Amino acid sequence: MCPSNCHQPTPKEQGEIVATTLNGERVYGMGADGPIKTPTEKPPVAPPVEREVPVVVDWPKGIGADLKPHPVAPQNTEKILDACCGSRMFWFNKRHPDTLYIDNRTMPPTKQTNGATIEVAPDRVMDFRNLDLPDNRFALVVFDPPHIIKRGGKRSYMKEKYGELERASWRDDLRAGFAELFRVLRPDGVLIFKWNETDIPLREVLALTPIQPLFGHRSGKAQKTHWVTFMKL
Ligand SMILES: C[S@@+](CC[C@H](N)C(=O)[O-])C[C@H]1O[C@@H](n2cnc3c(N)ncnc32)[C@H](O)[C@@H]1O
Repeated sequence: MCPSNCHQPTPKEQGEIVATTLNGERVYGMGADGPIKTPTEKPPVAPPVEREVPVVVDWPKGIGADLKPHPVAPQNTEKILDACCGSRMFWFNKRHPDTLYIDNRTMPPTKQTNGATIEVAPDRVMDFRNLDLPDNRFALVVFDPPHIIKRGGKRSYMKEKYGELERASWRDDLRAGFAELFRVLRPDGVLIFKWNETDIPLREVLALTPIQPLFGHRSGKAQKTHWVTFMKL
């Protein structure tokens, strides 16, 4: 029995695993020489790229239209990566000056089967499985990949707006996407992952990530959309 003033070992000292690094190394664990410590030296952060495009303040018309832009002026650098921007539907400012918007396709303004017109115009056409971007660059990455498995059939609003997953390769594609996005995320950077469970449960997708998520939230009438937060600690 420990007297009241003795030191009770903490979970870290006992070697409990509290996180896993991108390479699958345990951040805390019991090694041959005692507890494995968190690496104290983090890799250097790649400097943000100054953008040549002018700052555009494009405030939204819908939700948030009555709010004022953030008082801190945007710096016109690429600190944020939207890895699957599509038509940038979920952005309050669809041309945020500190964001690099990428997608693997472009689509000119096209009238959809539901009457809406959408356009896909990324800053750069790029595949999230193989990014032409340096390590440790972005403070925030948002990852909203397609979530519907390709079935063929007629043209549809959902397919054109959200894209589709390949039935045979979606696991490998999303696994490669997570690995690339954590590579370009800087240390202590945050990755927000959006997923809709129409075809694939969230747990099957989270099995493909190299880092454990911190917390998440469900939304939508059927609660099928999940927002999950990761941090590259
Ligand atoms: C669910 S939608 C994104 C919707 C977007 N967040 C919005 O607010 O409108 C998914 C997007 O991922 C793109 N995409 C699919 N595969 C990709 C890949 N390998 N690399 C980059 N983008 C990809 C699709 O073209 C599609 O525009």
